[in-house]
Amino acid sequence: MTDARALAAAYLKQQRLLGGDSVVIGSPAPEPVTTLPPVSPSAHPPAGISFDPPASDLFATDPLQQAHSLADVAALVAGCVKCKLCSGRTKTVPGEGLATARLVVVGEGPGKTEDETGRPFVGRAGELLTKILEAIKLPRDQVFICNVVKCRPPENRLPQYDEIAACVPYLHRQIELIKPKVILAMGGTAAQTLLSTKQSLGSLRNQVHRFRGIPLVVTYHPAALLRNPNWKRPTWDDVRIAARLLEN
Ligand code: URA
Ligand code: SF4
Repeated sequence: MTDARALAAAYLKQQRLLGGDSVVIGSPAPEPVTTLPPVSPSAHPPAGISFDPPASDLFATDPLQQAHSLADVAALVAGCVKCKLCSGRTKTVPGEGLATARLVVVGEGPGKTEDETGRPFVGRAGELLTKILEAIKLPRDQVFICNVVKCRPPENRLPQYDEIAACVPYLHRQIELIKPKVILAMGGTAAQTLLSTKQSLGSLRNQVHRFRGIPLVVTYHPAALLRNPNWKRPTWDDVRIAARLLEN
């Protein structure tokens, strides 16, 4: 294959992955390379923040570092009283899904239904998340879904800084055990926590960040989408970035 044809083929594949219109190439043969349409910038989102919290210490006495499975982590969460959210919870919501998941989805914290069932993203926002995942051909049970805080904040308020600080080691350990290929942070709390930044969600979108070297994509929280349908389109763009990263 000539270079021009190889480039054209790569371009078309990229467009297809991005959901662009299908293009039919008939004769004459594709134009020379110089006239190929520019690759859409969203095909290669720029690199963003890289955050590397220290990995677990093999010799630490912290029981979390002795947790060698997701079930071990969940058991520690179930007995956790490290922050004040423990007093209002019905059930802890450690997260659920495949231990070998290639995608980890991170939300904010359990809502009412999640608190009642002990399962993440099972309310209205969860139904929307399930649909979003199906759209990129990822059934819910093929990914790992969890939250920054594992107990429900009262009245679904934002988790506070001390609560996040107390809880985030569980999330870090879960990611460390799963070793996913991509992380999808949904909403400002997940994005800012995992990247250790105060930057707004809007400014963090459309970049490929890294959490301990793992590509991390940021998008709106499904609950926000239920309130503002205008965000569906950008969310779809973000999720396709994640899907493309999974293919590489
Ligand atoms: N919102 C979240 O952030 N997490 C859930 O589990 C449910 C709703
Ligand atoms: Fe422990 Fe996290 Fe629940 Fe706080 S929110 S009690 S740190 S599991």
